[in-house]
Amino acid sequence: MTRPRHKASASDALWYKRAVIYELPVKSFYDANADGIGDFPGLIEKLDYLEELGVTCLWLLPFFPSPLRDDGYDIADYCDIHPAYGTLDDFKRFLDGAHERGMHVVIELVLNHTSDQHSWFRRAREAPAGSIERDFYVWSDTDVKYADARVIFVDSERSNWTWDPVAGAYYWHRFFHHQPDLNYDNPAVLREMLKVIDFWLELGVDGFRLDAVPYLVEREGTSCENLPETHAVLESIRRHIDERWPHRMLLAEANQFPADVRAYFGDGDQCHMAYHFPLMPRIFMSLHLEDRHPIVEIMQQTPAIPELCQWALFLRNHDELTLEMVTDEERDYMHLAYSADPRARINLGIRRRLAPLLDNNRRRIELLNSLLFSFPGTPIVYYGDEIGMGDNVYLGDRNGVRTPMQWTSDRNARFSRADPARLYSPLIMDPIYGYQGVNVEAQERDGSSLLQWMKNLIGLRKLFPVLGFGTLRFLEPANRKVLAYLREHGNDAILCVANLSRNVQPVELDLAPFAGFVPIEVLGYTDFPIIEERPYFLTLGPYGFYWFELQRRDV
Ligand code: NOJ
Ligand code: CA
Repeated sequence: MTRPRHKASASDALWYKRAVIYELPVKSFYDANADGIGDFPGLIEKLDYLEELGVTCLWLLPFFPSPLRDDGYDIADYCDIHPAYGTLDDFKRFLDGAHERGMHVVIELVLNHTSDQHSWFRRAREAPAGSIERDFYVWSDTDVKYADARVIFVDSERSNWTWDPVAGAYYWHRFFHHQPDLNYDNPAVLREMLKVIDFWLELGVDGFRLDAVPYLVEREGTSCENLPETHAVLESIRRHIDERWPHRMLLAEANQFPADVRAYFGDGDQCHMAYHFPLMPRIFMSLHLEDRHPIVEIMQQTPAIPELCQWALFLRNHDELTLEMVTDEERDYMHLAYSADPRARINLGIRRRLAPLLDNNRRRIELLNSLLFSFPGTPIVYYGDEIGMGDNVYLGDRNGVRTPMQWTSDRNARFSRADPARLYSPLIMDPIYGYQGVNVEAQERDGSSLLQWMKNLIGLRKLFPVLGFGTLRFLEPANRKVLAYLREHGNDAILCVANLSRNVQPVELDLAPFAGFVPIEVLGYTDFPIIEERPYFLTLGPYGFYWFELQRRDV
């Protein structure tokens, strides 16, 4: 019997609002054929783990044929699988396996650029100037056009132009010089991309993460970011998908301030989701300052979004902890607080994982996850962070946060049966985060492990849809070390209270509108004293937090 591969998204148009997303690189998860590189057959073997963890959507990092000079974001063929990761048939089996378990699958759509090894670029360099083939990319006789566009990878590139001796012209690239930008002023480019989109949606994937989406179109005299012409491309893509493929989701990667990101939702006719980039560093700032102000301020500056749209929230991902969306002073402060070792810095950010950023402090890790899972939006967990994996700043670029998943304390953490020297990356082996101590098997046996705690949190999140759908309202207690907010949707209300400080804190909350309600702490399902008109008094342990379901009690 053949099953429809889009089963997972077919039933629920708003699945992305209910989701708990898990981000993973196929190469890092599990190696089934012992060549030292994770692959789709390996990922299939680990679907049970992901189902048990409770995540409902898998976001896969690029797995396409590629010279892998930007870990696969340099794509050489959009419609195939890198042979190291398996075959298209393996991918289909994986997709079926994920869908059978009720998990959605989101893959990467790198619209902005290709690898210089892509056949479009090889053809473009040889083609006559002015031809459709040449104009798949952005060319110039000089390297002075679009001078107002910043360089993004400041540690490796000095200009957005690189000379191509074959074409006898400069080509434009916002990232590495081996990643030429596609030219969306040439309608043939969008036509080709729509074919790519149809290819994967036909197979049954549930959505795309649109990589580097602010940079699609260039115009002189602008920053070449967020231009109206770029938004027009997104509208065309959305229209194309909506006409053919129901319930598929587009997630914008736009590392911009909230007001600029807002435009990527359009009138609900561009992307369904977009990352909230500026929130993430401010969570870390609030924690270090022990003051809620940075978090509250950025959320107050965050505009409302169309009803069917959703923010994507994260604490860490496969890139550096980006500090592009903070002031220079804030950046200095973040570096002082979180990357005293200069080797931990790259471009404008910090290449560390969650646990090391938080000094491996379990309470801080739990606190930040409790914010991630209770703020308005859909949470994304980066693979390995559910067991508190560490990083390796000596590996270069962002590879230190992309090391093999740690399954057991056996050889190669049982990520692979290959000769250890053959692994695509060394494992984490230091005494604190090394796989001998930090691994899935050990944490599955230990009832009080981080992994068990994360499973519980994920389960709770799914019990309370108000966390995915509800509004956000901050309370303003005098004690600024405490962050308190209400999530409300219809008759459902959750009160979240978090202590950002290392010491015990008291707090008085104005909950008068809820007089007569009982707060039920959801971790233990414990009734707290009934709310009255007068301020509601609570104490919180170091980095403590509560989620209360507010239940009306009829007297
Ligand atoms: C954003 C991706 O997250 C990053 O890993 C990549 O290097 C750039 N886009 C360029 O594709
Ligand atoms: Ca392999």
